Amino acid sequence: MEIKNGGQLKALIMYFSATGNTEKVAHAIRNALEKKKVTLTFFKVTEAAEEELYDYDLVFLGSPSIQWLPAKPVLSYIEEKHKLHGKRGDIKLYAPNIPGKSAVVFCTYAGPHTGISEATTAGKYMGQFFEHIGFEVAREWYIVGEIHGSDEASTMGKLGDIRGRPNKQDLAQVENDVSQLVRSILAL
Ligand SMILES: Cc1cc2nc3c(=O)[nH]c(=O)nc-3n(C[C@H](O)[C@H](O)[C@H](O)COP(=O)(O)O)c2cc1C
Repeated sequence: MEIKNGGQLKALIMYFSATGNTEKVAHAIRNALEKKKVTLTFFKVTEAAEEELYDYDLVFLGSPSIQWLPAKPVLSYIEEKHKLHGKRGDIKLYAPNIPGKSAVVFCTYAGPHTGISEATTAGKYMGQFFEHIGFEVAREWYIVGEIHGSDEASTMGKLGDIRGRPNKQDLAQVENDVSQLVRSILAL
C-alpha cells in the first residue's frame, strides 16, 4: 500500500509478525512517518518480494526473534533478495555505501534466557543483508514483546514481567525514534 503526502523521501516498511507484536511496532513506525513529508509504502514481508529496494531511500525491516534469528519468512525474503542482488552484481567487495540509501532493522523479542542478546543476533543478521547491498544501517531497534500463550516465559524470564509489551510507552518511544531519524536524514 502506498501513501503519498508530497514527500521527497521514499520509505518502505516491511515486517513479519506471527502474534502481533512486531506488527504493532510496524504500525507505530507508519504512524510516525505519516506525520512527516515521506512517501510511504507498507507491506508484510511475504507480499514484498517484487519491491525494488533501490527505489527507496529508507527501508525498514522488522521481525520477531525466533531462536535468536529472524523468523523464517524474513530469512526466506533475505535469501531470495540476496540471490537476486548477487546475480545483478550489486554485492561488491568492500560493500561500498550507496549515498542516500539507509535501512532500519527492528526486532521484537522476549529475551527469556539471555535478554537482548537473543535479539541483537537477529537484528545484526538483517542489517548485514542491507550493508551487503550498499545500504547504511542507520538504526537497529530492539523492542520487548511478550510471548503470547506462555505466562511463564512472559513473567519468569530474564526480563521479568513483560506481559502487555510492546506497550504504549514502547510504541511512543518507537514513534519518537522515527521522528528523530527522519529529521536527521532530511537535515543532511
Ligand atoms: C517459537 C518461538 C520462538 C521464540 N524464540 C525467541 C528467542 O529465541 N529469543 C527471544 O528473545 N524471543 C523469542 N521468542 C519471543 C518472540 O520473539 C516475541 O514474543 C516477539 O515479540 C513475537 O513477535 P510477533 O508477535 O510479531 O510474532 C520466541 C517466540 C516463539 C513463539
